[in-house]
Amino acid sequence: MAPTKSKILIFAATGYLGKYMVDASVSLGHPTYVYIRPLKPTTDSTKLQLLKEFESMGVTIFQGELDEHEKLVSVLRQVDVVISTLAVPQHLEQFKIINAMKEAGNIKRFVPSEFGNEVDRVSGLPPFEALLDNKRKVRRAIEAAGIPFTYVSANSFAAYFVDYLLHPHQKTDEVTVYGSGEAKAVLNYEEDVAIYTIRAATDPRVEKRVIIYRPPKNIVSQLDLISSWEKKTGRTMKITHLPEEEVVKLTETLPVPDNISVAILHNIYIKGDQTSFELTENDLEASKLYPDHNYTSVDDLLNRCLVDPPKPKLAAFV
Ligand SMILES: NC(=O)c1ccc[n+]([C@@H]2O[C@H](COP(=O)([O-])OP(=O)(O)OC[C@H]3O[C@@H](n4cnc5c(N)ncnc54)[C@H](OP(=O)(O)O)[C@@H]3O)[C@@H](O)[C@H]2O)c1
Repeated sequence: MAPTKSKILIFAATGYLGKYMVDASVSLGHPTYVYIRPLKPTTDSTKLQLLKEFESMGVTIFQGELDEHEKLVSVLRQVDVVISTLAVPQHLEQFKIINAMKEAGNIKRFVPSEFGNEVDRVSGLPPFEALLDNKRKVRRAIEAAGIPFTYVSANSFAAYFVDYLLHPHQKTDEVTVYGSGEAKAVLNYEEDVAIYTIRAATDPRVEKRVIIYRPPKNIVSQLDLISSWEKKTGRTMKITHLPEEEVVKLTETLPVPDNISVAILHNIYIKGDQTSFELTENDLEASKLYPDHNYTSVDDLLNRCLVDPPKPKLAAFV
């Protein structure tokens, strides 16, 4: 028997991750809904085009602000599962969604916007710690409201970070290595992040659980990435090392949000927090939970970069 489909509502669906989430939800056959901010005469044509694509995919579009409580409650009553991909500046705005879900009383699963490190098991330098702390506050509010949840630790977005670290578009041989370059990070392709999330959000095994995306083929250091890229391109990269002390100093001196970006780089690529704890039998790891999903490995992604590098349109990773 085919598994039942859930009505899935996505917040920030027009954002970087949100678009992947809509594609994944539709491709997995779920009736898909988005809640976007009201369109204005000034809304740009790219967004209007995207919304046309959503409509042609059968997506139902609701327009409203997060402040419109009654509207939010009535929209939530029409769906089963809620996924938020709101960006960092809006993380605490999710309290409004939580309040509305509490009143609606019908939501079977909420996935708050995290999609990074496992916030209850790591810590960062102050600018990053503040961001982690907001995510923890959202978790605690969800639990206090008694809303069934799935927390997603997606680690790093691969297309974004491969582009950031190796610049495959620019065909440059110059790369910066943060710290020694040996710390292991986990780079997951955005399409897989979205597919795993939709599957987890509708999977009873992941109710009230954290799921961690740590597929074995995606655990790499900066030096591993550079060495693979050198082998594939036949070029030798010119490496500039930025020592840890300098990176730490930048987190103290740069303005917001650049200080946050550097603190994230420190956490992932110098401290190695994405692999700083062992997964145990009690942890849920995505590639183990969904072995039938043929995920894109870092090596696959680098092969693609040789021919047609993905063009991540992401302002910054905060
Ligand atoms: N692990 C990683 O490597 C990594 C990298 C990047 C991001 N992330 C995480 O992924 C999540 C999503 O980030 P993202 O970069 O995809 O976000 P994003 O692209 O910046 O999200 C933008 C969307 O947010 C909505 N939005 C903006 N301002 C809003 C407001 N004031 N009120 C309501 N909605 C507003 C807009 O949607 P509408 O106009 O349609 O309403 C907009 O399209 C975040 O939790 C972030 O921390 C992780």
